[in-house]
Amino acid sequence: MQVVKNLQDLNKVLKIVSNKSIGFVPTMGSLHRGHLSLVRASKKKTDYTVVSIFVNPTQFDNQNDYNNYPINLQNDISLLNNEEVDLLFIPDYEELYSSEKLIKIDLHNLDKVLEGKHRKGHFDGVVRVVSIFFNLIKPQYAFLGEKDYQQYLIISLLAKELFEKVKIILCPTFREESGLAMSSRNLRLEAKYSKETKKLFELLTYCKKNFDVENRKKLEQICFEKLSQFSSPEYFEIRQSVDLTNEGELSDKWRAFTATKFGDIRLIDNIALN
Ligand code: PAF
Repeated sequence: MQVVKNLQDLNKVLKIVSNKSIGFVPTMGSLHRGHLSLVRASKKKTDYTVVSIFVNPTQFDNQNDYNNYPINLQNDISLLNNEEVDLLFIPDYEELYSSEKLIKIDLHNLDKVLEGKHRKGHFDGVVRVVSIFFNLIKPQYAFLGEKDYQQYLIISLLAKELFEKVKIILCPTFREESGLAMSSRNLRLEAKYSKETKKLFELLTYCKKNFDVENRKKLEQICFEKLSQFSSPEYFEIRQSVDLTNEGELSDKWRAFTATKFGDIRLIDNIALN
């Protein structure tokens, strides 16, 4: 695996592989099996897999969260080496953002609900950094996890509007045995919350079992109350998978989304309901 840290080296390497199909896996590091499943999906579908590790400051609405974001670079490099990733890009903030081309995109309110509502400016930062990466790496495919489903919809729209050559591939959420969705943030969860975090997936499963469109609002309320019994929820909402609106028919595709805190650690998860 080649590791590059600056744009000059990145461009040099990418020039050599310009005849290959490139798969891109953007990450913020502290890799877990969920990330590795994205890498494997890329390796299966493309000739050349590029992974980035970059904790992007512009997508954090909370300085504390940014400062405490877990970093495990040596372990990440060894995991990616084992997966035989072709190229790892670990950019520097100043240089990365100095290559930014300003973009304008209407996200059709996808960025106004759920995470967009609760983490102001979060998706502006995600769209900025992913656009920079797409411009530099010019992948044919980018691989994203279902746990960040809203991010997947937003990046899909970004690709459709401004990077039409990039196909976005959604890969399933990886879960611990307890059902807890894998996340780099899990590393910071205190052991005393292990019983409670198990209940999060049980609650999503409960919601799925009890879903029908008629009782949607009531079910949201019940789930929010149940969630409050073992964590500090920010939201529990049932929305359409296709555009995150909350009106529609049973024949539409629906999903439950939640963000909740265990101590200081804020986790998100979602489940397809039908
Ligand atoms: O999902 C993430 O880890 C980040 O939001 C991403 C896509 C790498 C952009 O910084």
